[in-house]
Amino acid sequence: MSITPVPRVAVIVVAAGSGTRLGAADPKAFVGLDQHTILRHCLEGVFSAPSAQVIVVAPPGREGDADTDALEASGDRRDLVQVVSGGPTRQASVAAGLHAVWPDVEVVLVHDAARALTPPAVFERVIAAVDAGAAGVIPVLPVVDTLKRVDGARIVDGVDRAELAAAQTPQGFRRDVLDAAYAAAEEEFTDDAAVVASAGHEVVIVDGSEMSFKITTPADLERARSLVSPVHPAATRLDAQQPAARVGVGTDVHAVGGDGTLWLAGLEWPGEQPLSGHSDGDAVAHAIVDALLAAAGLGDIGTHFGTDRPEYAGAHADAFFARTRALLDEAGWAVGNVSVQVQARRPRFADRRAEAERVLSAALGGAPVSVSATTTDGLGFTGTGEGVAAFAVAMIVPA
Ligand code: CTP
Ligand code: MG
Repeated sequence: MSITPVPRVAVIVVAAGSGTRLGAADPKAFVGLDQHTILRHCLEGVFSAPSAQVIVVAPPGREGDADTDALEASGDRRDLVQVVSGGPTRQASVAAGLHAVWPDVEVVLVHDAARALTPPAVFERVIAAVDAGAAGVIPVLPVVDTLKRVDGARIVDGVDRAELAAAQTPQGFRRDVLDAAYAAAEEEFTDDAAVVASAGHEVVIVDGSEMSFKITTPADLERARSLVSPVHPAATRLDAQQPAARVGVGTDVHAVGGDGTLWLAGLEWPGEQPLSGHSDGDAVAHAIVDALLAAAGLGDIGTHFGTDRPEYAGAHADAFFARTRALLDEAGWAVGNVSVQVQARRPRFADRRAEAERVLSAALGGAPVSVSATTTDGLGFTGTGEGVAAFAVAMIVPA
């Protein structure tokens, strides 16, 4: 068992609110930002800061959920964390947390779980300012909007914003000062600094952080979610090790030749010279299959559809795509999107490009497919019309 020295700092994380303005099914602290809750993200920040006793104040009845988040976030410091039940107001919840502070603690920080993305550096600044002698410390941001004093619909006065600051948490206090101020408080105050100020103590400010914004409304939640998972919404279902998406590149070439009609980009082209190949010679489809398999790290088209597979003799794009999708699915991937370019003198793609995109997209389960086509100005085998080349890039996402 690890012996942790008794910390001199305690952090009370108040998470007992219901989140009325957010309007989610769960209490706000248990709403997910990605695969982790707001509370869990908040606690990750708390545990990245200097070692402290951590008291999580949970909504009554949800102590077990808070405990799970607390234990996961604390890692090997689980002996430092405990959960207590909150009260009907924030002030009552802080008071409940204060009762659980260990005797040797000298500095107490009170932090809103709803400020889930607060950087550890803010905790450090607040602790340093209390250590430097302040009875109370709050992190603030300058007010950027122009402010007006109003009376109903009428502006009464301007307000000099240089005189104002927006208060954040964690707010830090000398433990004896906070204990005494809470014991003496007889009314509801807006924050802990106000409780301490009402007891006659000076509260000083340090720099807050834009990242410490409080998740209050659905728009705040969206902002927090995009900051946590900027790449793709599918990342919300993954652990941090796994990428949100992967890409692959594929190429295919077929020579003009053989009997029958041309099949290209999943379409039949009556009157056009066919392409030769074991299957129907659809270079566009094959380049896409190659790109998808490459993205998933599943080899290439030859691995799965080689000439030793009689069932693919003469097969069209849909047979290739069905098998490719099954392989991806088995590996836990779905098609994100595909971009494919065909280089050919003939056929003329312009008139049937949209149709090709529709057919290919349908065969890929509805994933967007972009088809572009170019001639090569008479140069090379694609320019002379001896063959057709296709190049594809595919993105896949977790299924
Ligand atoms: N809080 C608490 N106990 C309460 C009320 C609030 O611990 N009785 C906590 C919240 O969980 C939150 C912080 O205080 O982390 C700031 O409160 P706020 O953002 O207002 O959260 P809620 O009260 O949950 O939200 P709302 O006011 O929209 O209901
Ligand atoms: Mg509230």
